[in-house]
Amino acid sequence: MTKQKMRVGIIGGGLMGREAASAFGRWFALDNFPVQVELTAVCDLQEKLLDWFRQVPTVKLFTKDHAELLRSPDVDVVYVAVPHNLHEKLYLDVLNAGKDLLAEKPFGIDLPAAQTIYDAAKTSGKFVRCSSEFPFLPGPQRVIQAFQSGRFGRIMEIHSGFWHASDLDPTKPVNWKRQVKTCGEIGVMGDLGMHAVHVPFRLGWNPIRVYAQLQKIYTERPDGKGGMAPCDTWDNAILHTEVKIGNDEVPMRLETKRLAPGETNTWFLEVLGTEGGMRYSTKDTKALWVFERSKEQGWTRIDLGHQTPFTTITGGIFEAGFPDCFLQMWAAYAAERAGQLNNKFGCVTPGEALLSHKLFAAALESHAQKKVVRL
Ligand SMILES: NC(=O)c1ccc[n+]([C@@H]2O[C@H](COP(=O)([O-])OP(=O)(O)OC[C@H]3O[C@@H](n4cnc5c(N)ncnc54)[C@H](O)[C@@H]3O)[C@@H](O)[C@H]2O)c1
Repeated sequence: MTKQKMRVGIIGGGLMGREAASAFGRWFALDNFPVQVELTAVCDLQEKLLDWFRQVPTVKLFTKDHAELLRSPDVDVVYVAVPHNLHEKLYLDVLNAGKDLLAEKPFGIDLPAAQTIYDAAKTSGKFVRCSSEFPFLPGPQRVIQAFQSGRFGRIMEIHSGFWHASDLDPTKPVNWKRQVKTCGEIGVMGDLGMHAVHVPFRLGWNPIRVYAQLQKIYTERPDGKGGMAPCDTWDNAILHTEVKIGNDEVPMRLETKRLAPGETNTWFLEVLGTEGGMRYSTKDTKALWVFERSKEQGWTRIDLGHQTPFTTITGGIFEAGFPDCFLQMWAAYAAERAGQLNNKFGCVTPGEALLSHKLFAAALESHAQKKVVRL
């Protein structure tokens, strides 16, 4: 089989840019996969990060100027992982250069930026998707399949969210993710919200109403230079929404928190129906909790193995973690771009990213006016 080669350039070689490089580095873990990947170019403003990428033998272009990377004929797809205030400009530059794009969430700093990016993506005809990796874990995939099979019966309630805890430490220094000018007014919703809505939106659970509870808990943090700096973004957000499933209006609670006690990086999804239900959380990464209603009712714990959407050489009993679902997300991007997704779960579409911004903008309005906002 001749494999298509996907040559990737990275703009933003920080936390996520390097995570992407590491996913490409173990691409051969994907079994019988139709696309090869090669990281060819990297752009970051920091010399020490460019130096880190020098250990990747396929990278030929190291630059601090993203325009230089975009001029390279050796780049087909660009992964952009930079602060949110730069999304709009850089995503548009990628599209104008005629490259495909895997955009980082939240796909623009606010709704107008997301709309502009969405319009440009549509006009360009380029292949554009947005990142969200947790749904590619075995647990969420089982929840998705169970819902699609109808075995939950009538859905009564949905709970989806993503929690972090490290901001509970008031001595944690400020960074760009804590300030409106670089992270956006939507704050934690922009940081964590896409992870919470990817599965719901894909399953058609689109909020028709929202009531939002937003909290700013620490309003300043050490600036790392001996002083204090303002932290003006929302820390925690609970969105009470309703979605239409069949003829029913179903409550769906979406939670994104930076201050969730003890929750290092907890992504979860719970779906409860009249006939059955499921609960999955990365906190207990192997465990899938399955509810069945028969004569007696009960929750059963199943220990999951490595049953990922794109098969790998990893043993079936081995548990999956963050680097695995991140590799799976990239595999979904590459497969869909090559027209070979074959009904597997795909990355967030520009339409879904735009919808998330509509929800977060409505949540800001809801919180400001203490009212339910229709979408
Ligand atoms: N998918 C996920 O799980 C996940 C996790 C964390 C962050 N993110 C998203 O990834 C993006 C980046 O976050 P991060 O945590 O990697 O941030 P980071 O601060 O670790 O890295 C950002 C990098 O961008 C570089 N940069 C800034 N301006 C640039 C420019 N003009 N040209 C080139 N490089 C530039 C910085 O030097 C820095 O190295 C954000 O959109 C964030 O929301 C996604």
